[in-house]
Amino acid sequence: MPGTTILRARVAHTPRDPFTTSDALETFDDGAVAFADGVIVATGAAEDVLAQHPGAEVQDRRDCVLIPGMVDTHVHYPQIPVIGAMGLELLEWLAQRTLPEEAKMADLAHATKAAERFTRLLAGNGTTSALVFGSHFPQAQHALFEAADRSGLRIASGLVVSDRNLRPELEVTPDEAHAESTRLIERWHGQGRLRYAVTPRFSVSATEEMLGACRTLLDEHPTTLFTSHVNESPGEIAFVKQLFPHSRDYIGTYEDAGLLNDRSVLAHNVHASDEELHRLACAHTAVAHCPSSNAFLSSGIFPMARHVEHGVCFGMGTDVGAGTGLSMLKEALVAYHVQMVRTEGQMLGPAQLLYLATAAGAKAIGLNDLAGDLTPGKQADLVLLKPPPNSTLEAVLEEAPDWNAALGAIFTLAREECVVETRVSGEIVHTRTK
Ligand code: GUN
Ligand code: ZN
Repeated sequence: MPGTTILRARVAHTPRDPFTTSDALETFDDGAVAFADGVIVATGAAEDVLAQHPGAEVQDRRDCVLIPGMVDTHVHYPQIPVIGAMGLELLEWLAQRTLPEEAKMADLAHATKAAERFTRLLAGNGTTSALVFGSHFPQAQHALFEAADRSGLRIASGLVVSDRNLRPELEVTPDEAHAESTRLIERWHGQGRLRYAVTPRFSVSATEEMLGACRTLLDEHPTTLFTSHVNESPGEIAFVKQLFPHSRDYIGTYEDAGLLNDRSVLAHNVHASDEELHRLACAHTAVAHCPSSNAFLSSGIFPMARHVEHGVCFGMGTDVGAGTGLSMLKEALVAYHVQMVRTEGQMLGPAQLLYLATAAGAKAIGLNDLAGDLTPGKQADLVLLKPPPNSTLEAVLEEAPDWNAALGAIFTLAREECVVETRVSGEIVHTRTK
């Protein structure tokens, strides 16, 4: 078919769920992905794909590993400058470092620069889709949507709304939150690859009235997403208990407001009871697991095996700036590390890490019909990885006996310098020239 492009490379993806099947990983040593009009038309052995598409433009990328575009289910756009703010737990980290930084987003020039940089860095890390925690300032949120639209990435995001316990300049009334969110939804939800996510910061900073305003927005715009934080740190959970004496637990604060359904994504859920996990599974609400953030803020270790047992859907998020960077490859390695040191941790291997960095996230943020793996019919969202010359990764890959070894080395050693090309719907959104 005219207009077909073939990328010939070493190909790996997880078209099936490795937490439930043993043959989730599909790999091709000399593989190829063919796409036309942004849609994948074939993935397989290069010999077969080339024979099926004789007129296609073939790009020889056999020096690269091709994987699906990565999906970051929880990342804060204003927080790049606070990456690495050490020595603090969640509530002190927010008060001392992060909320003052977020207050700077009142300055539109600052926000515009931050938005541009943020979307560029996501693409540069191989992230093609993200659920992005936005800014408290409508103009700054508008700037993020403008930059995201230009970037070509699939971004869901929304104005962060709060009416208590933050800083006065970050707080608004529920009516103001409703009005400003409505304007942004009407302008941006469904525009190109963008979607809107209704975003109260967390129950600590939202009254029942504010959560009620969020519910109204979701009712008025039923295809928008919902996102917030939950069960992250012991101090935060104790605070929520005081603020919501009539709710059963932290999950209950969102549940009581009617905010939990299959379009909801809650970040962290480190300290969840079995009952909370059961209710999340029943509501089909997803969790964004953010391992580097949880370690960095000493929040705790994610009970992954219990999420799997209860059938709670979870993807992975970098949670920058509490998280330690925008690399989903590194995030997957940290997920592996913390499960290895946890008593009764979930055993993870390369297939699980690839799934968590890609298809699991796509499912969590409602993109699994479009993206997350390289099955024909899905959009050509993909990343080409290549080790820098003379790097440790190059040495390990040269000797890797099989795909488990190669992927294990990639998750352990590959970072943004290895992301040589990122594509969304076949369009190049990032290239690294050296
Ligand atoms: N809870 C409320 N706000 C935040 C935030 O910015 N980062 C994290 N990790 N947790 C939060
Ligand atoms: Zn967060």
